[in-house]
Amino acid sequence: MTYRNVAFVAVMTLLLVFSLSFIWEFMFEDIVNAFLDTGPPERDAIRWEFIVTSMVFAGIAVFISSMATIRIIYERKRIEEDLHKSETKFRDFAGDVAHELRTPLAVLKLHLDELEEDETALILQKDVAEMSRMLEQLLAITRLDSPESLAMNDVDLGKICTDVAERLAPIAVRDERLIEVCGADKAVFIKGNVYALEHAVRNLVENAMKYSSRRTTITIEVGDNSISVINNGQDIPPEKRAAIFKRFQRSDRRSDGAGLGLSIVQRAVEAHKGSIEMTGVPGGGAKFTIRLP
Ligand SMILES: Nc1ncnc2c1ncn2[C@@H]1O[C@H](COP(=O)(O)OP(=O)(O)O)[C@@H](O)[C@H]1O
Ligand SMILES: [Mg+2]
Repeated sequence: MTYRNVAFVAVMTLLLVFSLSFIWEFMFEDIVNAFLDTGPPERDAIRWEFIVTSMVFAGIAVFISSMATIRIIYERKRIEEDLHKSETKFRDFAGDVAHELRTPLAVLKLHLDELEEDETALILQKDVAEMSRMLEQLLAITRLDSPESLAMNDVDLGKICTDVAERLAPIAVRDERLIEVCGADKAVFIKGNVYALEHAVRNLVENAMKYSSRRTTITIEVGDNSISVINNGQDIPPEKRAAIFKRFQRSDRRSDGAGLGLSIVQRAVEAHKGSIEMTGVPGGGAKFTIRLP
């Protein structure tokens, strides 16, 4: 129930009370008095009786609706607090699980790396790498879900983009792709969180690597308060573009992935009060642009 509903109920109760008093005073009281044989009351007495009765009823109505309003406000506050507490608990739990799973997974990875390189070992290594990536995404979600815990400092967008490009370049080259960064020669400082922005750009570039054609170049463009990641390859139909930013939404199920990447990018951008947009590129492909205030 909203405050508007409460006000509506209060006004309707008042109207009802006034009309009931009115009907009683001018229609029924005479009949009742005649029935009881007390004779018709005097007009002045009727008027005062009417005013006093109405005031008493109105007072009762106002009292009841104020009590109801106070109770509703109190209940709403309590429910909001409970919800916030259970959300925090769940986030902490997910964060703890992801954190705890990292160590056994790292040990597993070490053992797998020591195995002879046959087909099974390669499949297992790929699966473990995918699991580690998912854990990282889960940790990112738990951090980004509480934007108030993200420290905002002066960050250089160009440096963030070159760091991500340097980290991912070996994998891109292995898969016959190149990564170029444009516009990072001059520093572009904004107030932001390095962890969140790096994670966002990394997710976009990883997607670009995953969904682009081989032997193409992925471009990261650094503008004034904006970062674009552009790749040639498959297009996303305009009617599907809004959905890919939701959790677990994937328009292409041929590759690995949990469908968390873009929702994380969106959260990271929203934590900076910015926006993200996807457009197509001529000849097929995707351009994701992050705009920061
Ligand atoms: N650069 C891109 N080119 C084409 N499609 C993309 C691109 N980036 C993302 N997508 C589409 O958006 C979906 C959601 O992406 P994401 O949330 O990162 O999840 P995932 O990569 O795990 O599938 C992908 O499944 C894919 O269909
Ligand atoms: Mg992805």
